[in-house]
Amino acid sequence: MSQLSMRHRHQVQSVLAACPLIPVISIQHPDQVLPLGKALVEGGIRVLEVTLRTDHGLGAIRQLRKAFPDIWVGAGTVTHPTQYREAEAAGAQFVITPGVTDELLNYGLTAEAPLLPGVATMSEMMTGYARGYREFKFFPAEVSGGIPALKAFAGPFSDVTFCPTGGIRPETAGHYLALANVVAVGGTWLTPQDRMDAGDWRAIVELVQDSLARL
Ligand code: 3PG
Repeated sequence: MSQLSMRHRHQVQSVLAACPLIPVISIQHPDQVLPLGKALVEGGIRVLEVTLRTDHGLGAIRQLRKAFPDIWVGAGTVTHPTQYREAEAAGAQFVITPGVTDELLNYGLTAEAPLLPGVATMSEMMTGYARGYREFKFFPAEVSGGIPALKAFAGPFSDVTFCPTGGIRPETAGHYLALANVVAVGGTWLTPQDRMDAGDWRAIVELVQDSLARL
């Protein structure tokens, strides 16, 4: 079986090491992309996961790459290699999937943008592990066992690290990050739609600052 290159692993490790909190972004209105990016970066964020859940995801990746050349910008909610290719063409520097398929894991081996595959179970993780993946998104983290599950994963696979996402709150992010096999956590709490719709970018700066200060 083909194996993941060290280049991919190092790039994913660099992304995860750049910032302990990764905002999961869904863009409903294209004019919110740049003010949101500015607020998140001003608050201290260095990694942005832009989901392809809306039609504006690819455009947002293009805009954010151009506006914030020093920040990691990646694509999330990628569920098929076609979307993976589109995300790469838009400039995504990494790709995150909510789960794993053989197609996505295989595509990630030779892709330009490295893959952070999403897993919820030991078996899914082992499917990626066999191809050389050692960094995973743990999703949906809270309902898949949360911190106790991550502690259990560390037993048989102490060389694997995770970015838990799904149900994480500012109060619990630090508890996850205290685990030896957690390097970053993700979530939508950093991008509240009501604040975005109100154009209250200051509230988002403060939310990010407050969330980072709690860690
Ligand atoms: C994701 O795709 O990572 C999740 O939607 C994030 O989950 P959350 O909304 O519970 O933070």
